[in-house]
Amino acid sequence: MKSKASSPAKVILFGEHFVVYGVKAILCAINKRITVTAEIIKENKISIKSNIGNLELEPNKEISEINSPLKPFYYLANKLLEDQNIGIKIDVKSDIPLGVGLGSSSACCVAGAAAISRLFNKTSKKEILELAIEAERTIFENTSGADCTVCTYGGIMEYDKRNGFSKIESEPNFHLVIANSNMEHSTKSVVKDVKQFKEKDENIFSTLCNKESKLVEDVLELLKDNNIVELGNKITENQEYLETIGISNEKLRKMIQIGQNKSFGAKITGAGGGGCIFALTDESNLRQTMNQFKDENYDCFSVKIDFKGLDTF
Ligand code: MEV
Repeated sequence: MKSKASSPAKVILFGEHFVVYGVKAILCAINKRITVTAEIIKENKISIKSNIGNLELEPNKEISEINSPLKPFYYLANKLLEDQNIGIKIDVKSDIPLGVGLGSSSACCVAGAAAISRLFNKTSKKEILELAIEAERTIFENTSGADCTVCTYGGIMEYDKRNGFSKIESEPNFHLVIANSNMEHSTKSVVKDVKQFKEKDENIFSTLCNKESKLVEDVLELLKDNNIVELGNKITENQEYLETIGISNEKLRKMIQIGQNKSFGAKITGAGGGGCIFALTDESNLRQTMNQFKDENYDCFSVKIDFKGLDTF
């Protein structure tokens, strides 16, 4: 018996890091996907194949002892096997660049949770999301849950830790140009650095949280009006807050400058410290923005919003 699921990547448009401390964020799913195929096998083992390596282990190993980025898949398979004397084979195919702030690990957790749980019973999206966040916590304990949520439900949404998500019904017709710094980063360690920044000066951090909250409320209004020029200005303003909390660096600043030349606004997306930035464009300045990055030899591509979210076959 086989089951297949696919989940989109994501971009945090506004509010990364602040969302960890309860501020509302705005995210969208993008049209790059990861596909997971899961299959019951007779042998009592969990076997995972992916383009970042393979992992094969017996069930019931201590999770903390597994040192592999594929650990969330093992966690999910082991949990859902419930000591039955069978095994699971998992195959992962991805067109999401890995570990650069585009939600590759969240998309893995969501598509993995869906494909594996459907081998045993039909599970609701809500239950799949809960399982996915549990699996994500095996690699990043303090996740806000925002990334898995948008990878599950797709589209564009507001999200906060306490109240969960609410879909934004307008369908803005923008293109995002994503540029990759190709600098590796670890979400876990950048989130830890921000925690240290907060603990050093609680007042500054709390002022920034208030500013970010206000910015997000303004953005929700601008999205209703599809006011792309003002949205671009808000993106630039959000980038200043990210600079202040110390998640930027020289290379990212240079990329943001390039992005801001022709687009409506550009900022880091995700944890920062490396990874990707995005520039907001429409048909009028998409090509010019892409060319600016290409002229400087940066890896870049354009994406649109994915409205489908998790898909199962
Ligand atoms: C990572 O994509 C986003 C962060 O805000 C962490 C989180 O929300 O869990 C940095």
